[in-house]
Amino acid sequence: MRILVTGGAGYIGSHTCVQLLEAGYEIVVADDLSNSSETAIHYIKGITGKEFPFYPVDLKDRERTEQLFELEPIDGVIHFAGYKAVGESVERPLMYYENNLVSTMNVLQAMRKRGIFHFVFSSSATVYGDPEILPIPEEAPLSATNPYGCTKLMNEQMLKDLYQSDNRWNITLLRYFNPIGGHPTGLLADNPNGIPNNLMPYIIRVYENKLDQLHVYGNDYPTPDGTGVRDYIHVIDLADGHVAALDRMKEPGVHIFNLGTGTGYSVLEVVRAFENVNKCRIPYVIDPRRAGDIAMCYADPSKAERELGWKARRSLEEMCKVVLI
Ligand code: WQD
Repeated sequence: MRILVTGGAGYIGSHTCVQLLEAGYEIVVADDLSNSSETAIHYIKGITGKEFPFYPVDLKDRERTEQLFELEPIDGVIHFAGYKAVGESVERPLMYYENNLVSTMNVLQAMRKRGIFHFVFSSSATVYGDPEILPIPEEAPLSATNPYGCTKLMNEQMLKDLYQSDNRWNITLLRYFNPIGGHPTGLLADNPNGIPNNLMPYIIRVYENKLDQLHVYGNDYPTPDGTGVRDYIHVIDLADGHVAALDRMKEPGVHIFNLGTGTGYSVLEVVRAFENVNKCRIPYVIDPRRAGDIAMCYADPSKAERELGWKARRSLEEMCKVVLI
């Protein structure tokens, strides 16, 4: 099966490309490199020893997207491409709605035109908003608390409507919890441009002495130690969830799965695990809560275990281990 991986030079996309190639899939990668680098493409080829076509394409460009499908035989798509910074989405909502929705529509139109109906969508636990039920099942109520989350919710709704209009579609929505960690070679990791929004890349910058201390956003949440609790999952476990979804992608429909470990860890537990496994100190200061943050979020991953035969395997310590190259 030949899979188009959009956003395949990004953090989760690049790790998924490695796992797909190692599982015997052929891939084609499209990425506009707005939040990634072509270096990742070279690393994927270096790690796997395999070749594949790469296209620097802005998927908002309908014509370029059509050209891609004309040039390359494609059997299915994993769609990672999209902007993903919550704070930036609040400041620049139109940029987020245009990019995250138009790119998806262009890909789906190009697929439908050519009778390609296998589509895996990179969704997010952010569609659960502030969860009422913990651990969170796939049936939990959906809501969005920021434009980024709204784009995920709107893409999910568009895909459900698409299947209702044409039952040939075979759609999988994968709702990620908090991906962290990197490839054991140290070549692929979460290395955003500028000051990181997310916890782990920020901790790593402190570890590298590029930032002086971690700012812990609030210690007055109703959690065991007062700091935010999240379901951290190793990015390679997450990537393997995509391979499992493709392997078991049989009947048409809309198939929804949480990709998490089912265990929540607080900010301070992550800091302690990071310090222990890397034998270091991560200085931190307690700041006020970050606007839009929720207290606790962790998955019920039993449906993916049952129906995909997939389960996250790596420990928090493995997720925190820094690989020096
Ligand atoms: C985790 C915890 C913070 C940074 C976001 C998106 C979500 C998904 C993952 C794309 C929280 C605390 C963080 C810092 C801190 N992305 N924190 N200091 O907010 O759970 O989820 O990224 O799909 O959609 O919303 O992840 O890593 O930003 O925060 O104390 O410098 O760490 O308060 O409790 P989050 P995060």
